[in-house]
Amino acid sequence: MRRKWKSCLFLMMLCLVLAGCAGQDMQESTGQTQDTDTVTESRITQETETAEESTQAMSEGSDIPEQEYSLAEIYEDNFPVGVALPGWIFQAGAEYEELILANFNSITCENEMKPDAILDREASRADLENTYRRAAVKFDACMPAVEFAKEHGLKIRLHTLVWHSQTPRWFFTEDYTDDGELVDREVMLARMENYIADVLTYFKENHPGLIYAVDVVNEAFDSGTGDENEVRMTDNLWYETVGADYYYQAFVFARNYASPDMKLFYNDYGCMYKTDRILKNLAQAKEEGLIDGIGMQSHLSVNEDIQYKFMFAVRAFCDAGYEVQATELDIGIEDTEDTTLMRQGRKYRSFFGNMKKLQEEGYAITGITVWGLHDGASWRGDEWPLLFDADLNPKKAYLGAALDPSIPAVE
Ligand code: G3I
Repeated sequence: MRRKWKSCLFLMMLCLVLAGCAGQDMQESTGQTQDTDTVTESRITQETETAEESTQAMSEGSDIPEQEYSLAEIYEDNFPVGVALPGWIFQAGAEYEELILANFNSITCENEMKPDAILDREASRADLENTYRRAAVKFDACMPAVEFAKEHGLKIRLHTLVWHSQTPRWFFTEDYTDDGELVDREVMLARMENYIADVLTYFKENHPGLIYAVDVVNEAFDSGTGDENEVRMTDNLWYETVGADYYYQAFVFARNYASPDMKLFYNDYGCMYKTDRILKNLAQAKEEGLIDGIGMQSHLSVNEDIQYKFMFAVRAFCDAGYEVQATELDIGIEDTEDTTLMRQGRKYRSFFGNMKKLQEEGYAITGITVWGLHDGASWRGDEWPLLFDADLNPKKAYLGAALDPSIPAVE
């Protein structure tokens, strides 16, 4: 794999320089408000220089990294770099393990720490008298990830405690059956508290120091399906049973049971489009010291602006006293033409480069996690959104994330 990696990298660099000289991807519209001619011209100059630099450096051979990159090492003075992993990957073999350990120092269970993986219906139903206010929980599904992380000194982001999705309906009903009657606010608040208490206490007592960040609440504000405060109402049994303040209550309980080293996050998608709403709805929790950070999922496309719009939102959250983590980064593309892959590489370079720059300027950016190891294992399977291709080869996206000189620092 490493040899393959190096030769791939060399060929890729060669193509990049040739493509860069041809200037194929220099005519893209930038979507910026500046005068197009000026921008195109300045970008052509920038990219030509970069391509020439790459050519020149290539001839000196200094452009090909002596050792493979390690994203975790590149950013070790800035923030952890993580990856979301499905349970099967821990039995997938050495190639996967090598790639994970070479680049990441944090992992998130893609599904195995969600309520539908932890809640134990059979045990809950078997002892209803004792479980009526405290559903039974089990941690089998996430054990491979926990053991892998502990064996290799990785930290874990716990994703997620309170979410309208992947939380079974039976958890909200009188008799823990799928079609049972929903319980009332008081009972559901007791179940919420006990679930949060049992999950956080389990990790605190059995795996101290392993969990460094917790997505306490996921995706609670969604203008398309929300109430007047954009608190999600549609398909949301938390809203239906507890009410519009369910997300606030979750933070009250989480702060009560989390250990100090577990930073408590609100996690959501499209954060750059609903920054003010998130800040407004979380203000009370923030004021009461119940929440530490905002998890910006960062499910992006190459057509979205990162250097201005996304980073503006990052600064706004930091200025409001939150730490910020990119928790589910992937950047979708529509095809795998070289020019498109280069564009994706530039977007990844902009994302990692700007987050690094802001962190070094003092903004509390405390992590970037990509949502999957390779394109073949992405929830966005038909958009090739990740750093490695399905054969685990590094893409231009990976070189961009590594700030490799072959990827121009222009979106
Ligand atoms: O485990 C079952 C398996 O038993 C069954 O045979 C199979 C076919 O039905 O489904 C399997 O469950 C799937 C699960 O992933 C595990 O692979 C679910 O159907 C599938 O819906 C689920 O998708 C996950 C999705 O969340 C569900 O909402 C994705 O893997 C996961 O990447 C995605 O992650 C979410 C974040 O948690 C929150 N932010 C958005 C992000 C993308 O949707």
